[in-house]
Amino acid sequence: MDVFAPFRVGPFNLRNRFVMAPLARARSDASRAPTAMVADYYAQRATAGLIVTEATSVSPMSVSRPGASAIFSDGQVEGWRGVAERVHAAGGLIFQQLYHLGRKSDPSRTPGGALPVAPSAIAARGEVHGVNGPVPFAVPRALGLDEIPGVVAEFRAAAENARRAGMDGVEIHGANAYLIDQFLRGGSNTRTDNYGGAVENRARLLLEIVDALAAVLGRDRVGVRLSPHAHGDGIFDADPVATFGYAAGELNRRGIAYVHLIEGSTPGLRQTPADPSKALMPVVRAAFRGPLIVNGGYDLASANAVIASGAADLVAFGALYIANPDLVARFRRGAPLNPPDLATFHEGGAKGYIDYPMLA
Ligand SMILES: Cc1cc2nc3c(=O)[nH]c(=O)nc-3n(C[C@H](O)[C@H](O)[C@H](O)COP(=O)(O)O)c2cc1C
Repeated sequence: MDVFAPFRVGPFNLRNRFVMAPLARARSDASRAPTAMVADYYAQRATAGLIVTEATSVSPMSVSRPGASAIFSDGQVEGWRGVAERVHAAGGLIFQQLYHLGRKSDPSRTPGGALPVAPSAIAARGEVHGVNGPVPFAVPRALGLDEIPGVVAEFRAAAENARRAGMDGVEIHGANAYLIDQFLRGGSNTRTDNYGGAVENRARLLLEIVDALAAVLGRDRVGVRLSPHAHGDGIFDADPVATFGYAAGELNRRGIAYVHLIEGSTPGLRQTPADPSKALMPVVRAAFRGPLIVNGGYDLASANAVIASGAADLVAFGALYIANPDLVARFRRGAPLNPPDLATFHEGGAKGYIDYPMLA
């Protein structure tokens, strides 16, 4: 068994086990809608077994750099429809990654300059690129108990929008220190109500969103991304084994399409492998028995090895997909890989986006 073997996820027969990792590339227009160029970019990569879109904001309160995409307005849905159509025409499958930045939102871009929202009034560590340049993350406003159903409703509406756009499913972004992860971890969540304290409470927002989206789309079209080792932006948890073991078990009970696990930490753009003896992948694999996607620094050899070992079912590639739209063909033929151009990861129009060469 290797990365070229087909695999079934929910109702879908994936033609291989390559997943294009979610990659925010900041090429949406001023209304936060993807353009025709964005559709070109995804269509170029449609030979992956599954594409997960860039993180897409579910709310106007989730806003960061210009060009970052969203899916709460009709115009944005139209843009995403163009993406889904092109990927399907090229024979691919595509899930929309949905997220809320929470305390990592930029207060210089929120509606009315409102303070970002979070589980607790604790600022993320580091800086946000505000309209007047980099500034420290704001101390966010703790969401009121009565406001949490509104957040779940934003995710539900975004999932309905993704379905309207023709997406095959959605991936809930529970990783990388964004709102759901902020609730999951004790370091950013000091609430004393039903959403803080015990792990059952910290995982409640994630699981309510899973249940709401499963009701809309069917559980087999809902995946969840987790990053138990992420520690960027000052996110931490005293007992990650307990937190992520519980979350994985609850996701298993719900029978969702897949769990997508980032294995390393994300200090910058690239992964650093976790200390293998402390890796949480086995904990998650034992608790969640559905399809497991792993991610973080994989190449062909390590992807084949992790699949052959049975430790995971699919492998997501990030930086390699930025630079190699035809990654499947390159790996199959043993062809050289294009080097990624870091300067155009988050800006640069067509350059470094849709102009990486493909094999003849
Ligand atoms: C430019 C860039 C943008 C990214 N955007 C997202 C994103 O929108 N959502 C997400 O979950 N991860 C995002 N990531 C993380 C990647 O999905 C992936 O976890 C990371 O690149 C490690 O995989 P790799 O070693 O194969 O590149 C991003 C990474 C990069 C380099």
